[in-house]
Amino acid sequence: MSSKLIMEKVFKYFPLRRSLVEILTFRPPRYVRAVDGVSFTVDEGEIFCLAGESGCGKTTTGRLIVRLLEFTGGRALYRPRKEILSEIPPQYIVEKEYVDLTAKLPRQVDKLLRRDVQIVFQDPYGSLNPRMRIYDILKEPLDIHGVGASEDEKREKVFKALEEVKLTPPEEFAERYPHMLSGGQRQRIGIARALILEPSLVVADEPVSMLDVSVRAEILQLMMDLKATRNLTYVFITHDLAVAAYICNRIGIMYLGTIVEKGPIDLIVNNPQHPYAKALIAAVPEPDPRNRFKIREVPIKGEIPSAANIPPGCRFHPRCPYAMDICKKEPPPEIEIEKGHTVSCWLYAKR
Ligand SMILES: Nc1ncnc2c1ncn2[C@@H]1O[C@H](COP(=O)(O)OP(=O)(O)O)[C@@H](O)[C@H]1O
Ligand code: SF4
Ligand SMILES: [Mg+2]
Repeated sequence: MSSKLIMEKVFKYFPLRRSLVEILTFRPPRYVRAVDGVSFTVDEGEIFCLAGESGCGKTTTGRLIVRLLEFTGGRALYRPRKEILSEIPPQYIVEKEYVDLTAKLPRQVDKLLRRDVQIVFQDPYGSLNPRMRIYDILKEPLDIHGVGASEDEKREKVFKALEEVKLTPPEEFAERYPHMLSGGQRQRIGIARALILEPSLVVADEPVSMLDVSVRAEILQLMMDLKATRNLTYVFITHDLAVAAYICNRIGIMYLGTIVEKGPIDLIVNNPQHPYAKALIAAVPEPDPRNRFKIREVPIKGEIPSAANIPPGCRFHPRCPYAMDICKKEPPPEIEIEKGHTVSCWLYAKR
């Protein structure tokens, strides 16, 4: 098996704050169902993209993978790189070479996984400590994880990381503070910080969406180059399908905490099947210059509902132009319409 990550029906619910009336009348607690039964696999060395409108659960899914959040349920098998795997005690290893990220893991295992699975955050302005020099920002993970035998070795690693993200001369950038850098340069630091511990999986949460359009392509290219030289696997989160089409191998389209369609990127951007995926792809403002998108007109009504109040049946039914009776009552099954391409929609179910 060459899967790097296997997410099997994972959940993340956030409890809603209860009003006094709710507490006094013993009403059951309510939840924001941010991630509500999501399944996908990521193969070693691929770029798997999670796409969808704001609020559909992309960031929450990414934060579960890097264990910044605890899972509410499901199973998430992760295969660490060999050196990390060999340090994990056998009782935490499942199916020979995986660790279940949803399990309660001791600090020692947690720390090993944090080295191997890193995140690049969306906001390059908010994710770097403004009071720390770039040198200290990049050295911090080495200190925490005891990587580098001496201060000289750590210095060498920090400088090498700066060179890798093309911030040269490194001696000069190392002395600066985040406010002395442009947005693009800060995101380069974010990438350097994620890579300094030599992870094998990187979750990139909309890494270019807050940057000037003029620097987005450079940062994406840098991420692609680093992926190739370091043999990385990416879970790439974006709401921008043009970006997805440009860089990823496979995609999962999310809607209100679930994946409605997933499969190879070309199949999905050129010929989406799920009504929501069709609408989303029709909404891509400009087709990419190589004309990979066929723009369609699909009516889509209304706003995305709240994740605290998910419609019954198919959660897309209030907005779906094709909704049938069954859609209002029962959630649709996931149907494989061709190899590796699945759609969760009653239109494709044989009844
Ligand atoms: N810490 C939190 N507490 C409560 N609700 C949250 C929290 N984080 C995210 N949510 C909610 O979960 C849903 C999914 O959010 P998110 O994963 O950030 O979506 P996306 O990244 O796709 O925009 C949203 O409704 C959001 O308001
Ligand atoms: S299951 Fe029904 S409501 Fe949902 S997307 Fe398919 S046709 Fe539309
Ligand atoms: Mg997000």
